[in-house]
Amino acid sequence: MTENGLETYGDLATGVREILISTNEIQQRVYEIGQAISQDYTGLNPLLVGVLKGVLFFMADLLRAVRIPTEMDFIAVSSYSPESRDQGLVRMVKDLEIPISGRHVLFVEDVIDTGLTLNYILRNLRVRQPASLEVCVLFNKPEHRLVNIPLKYKGFDLPDRFVVGYGLDYREKYRNLPFVGLLKPNVFQSGPNNSV
Ligand code: IMP
Ligand code: MG
Repeated sequence: MTENGLETYGDLATGVREILISTNEIQQRVYEIGQAISQDYTGLNPLLVGVLKGVLFFMADLLRAVRIPTEMDFIAVSSYSPESRDQGLVRMVKDLEIPISGRHVLFVEDVIDTGLTLNYILRNLRVRQPASLEVCVLFNKPEHRLVNIPLKYKGFDLPDRFVVGYGLDYREKYRNLPFVGLLKPNVFQSGPNNSV
């Protein structure tokens, strides 16, 4: 019960079965990626772009590990329907505020599964003719990948399991766990909005 420290998170972690990637492991890896970005983009004033909301935690920690001048901006997307999401059709509900033409853009993403959403967004950004456009992902789930997307920076490979924490949610909950964990099976079966 006390072995993994889950009890210190109280109600927030009652649905969590096990920790998959610890807080320390995440912080160490984010620090390393920050160092690599600092080296690779020296003198380039990169623009880090993320999709709200899942990337918020990674973006905040990553930017504090980057030791060169950077800027950040966000887009927000929503799926037209669950079916259209399966095809990677998304609607941009908030566009970038900073023009990216001629800029070195690093796209920062929390998790990539099929890659369809990211593929759509990258195509949209490429049209605006950035000087470069690369991808930095913290959690990579390679087993369901439908589109090949080169990843310049990658934090962890994850198994094909649904995970929560460090920005990742289940029905908007669990984002504020500092680690990544698996949920207990009964969490998925309970609740009034089961059909959503
Ligand atoms: P895809 O790469 O187009 O399949 O979509 C990835 C999106 O699905 C991410 O941006 C997340 O919002 C969501 N997602 C994928 N895997 C997980 C997970 O294990 N937990 C929470 N959200 C996930
Ligand atoms: Mg996301």
